[in-house]
Amino acid sequence: MRNNSEFAVRLTDVKKTYLMGKVEVEAIKGISLQIPTKRFNVIIGPSGSGKTTLLNLLGCIDIPSAGRVEVCGQDIACLTDEQASDFRAENIGFIFQNFNLIPVLSAYENVEYPLLLMKKPVKERKELTLKMLDAVGLTSHKHHRPNELSGGQRQRVAIARALVKGPKLVLADEPTANLDSKTGQSIIDLMYAMQAENHTTFIFSSHDRQVMAHAEKVFEIQDGLLMQDKEL
Ligand SMILES: Nc1ncnc2c1ncn2[C@@H]1O[C@H](COP(=O)(O)OP(=O)(O)OP(=O)(O)O)[C@@H](O)[C@H]1O
Ligand SMILES: [Mg+2]
Repeated sequence: MRNNSEFAVRLTDVKKTYLMGKVEVEAIKGISLQIPTKRFNVIIGPSGSGKTTLLNLLGCIDIPSAGRVEVCGQDIACLTDEQASDFRAENIGFIFQNFNLIPVLSAYENVEYPLLLMKKPVKERKELTLKMLDAVGLTSHKHHRPNELSGGQRQRVAIARALVKGPKLVLADEPTANLDSKTGQSIIDLMYAMQAENHTTFIFSSHDRQVMAHAEKVFEIQDGLLMQDKEL
């Protein structure tokens, strides 16, 4: 039996309903799951099945309509908005489908940004930022702005930005969806390598079965419900 601290995430009968005018959209219809730490977990499901909604709940970007969300042992409902944003800054790294880099900042400045938010001293910021840029193979592009980088390079900046603060949890929402299949595969390989090196918990969403190749645990969702959860 695993004890609680071995789970990065525990959901208990979680529901999420969006209100569209007067119409309720039930995006998550009651999901209970436990996601183990220090592994590569994949949430797989067709378009509209609730993957982004689920990741937003896991990342404390959104709150459930019902049920309990615990992330790294913390019951999210107990946090104020400000506490939730501090909790996110400290514990969670995000990688998005459309990269979400800050356009006016260079690759270096984008990677450094989470450390600025955490008020890390200048020397530590520089060391960590250069180390991460090196790890994702972008030292020579550190002065480039996002619009001066290819899609794959932008996503590598986003991976460096998510990992630079040494988060407990990294959430990646279809991080390869906007990349060609070869670049996408290299991004997946890079994420697996970084996960193995840093022992971070990764939760990766996709509707592409191809990305499951090295996954250690797969959660399959459909129409807002968990269909199966299996170890590979
Ligand atoms: N802000 C919102 N307001 C209303 N309905 C929403 C909102 N966000 C998502 N939905 C609805 O919730 C359901 C789940 O959406 P979600 O974005 O989580 O799916 P997904 O699995 O991430 O899909 P995709 O693979 O296309 O990204 C869909 O029916 C969607 O239309
Ligand atoms: Mg989505």
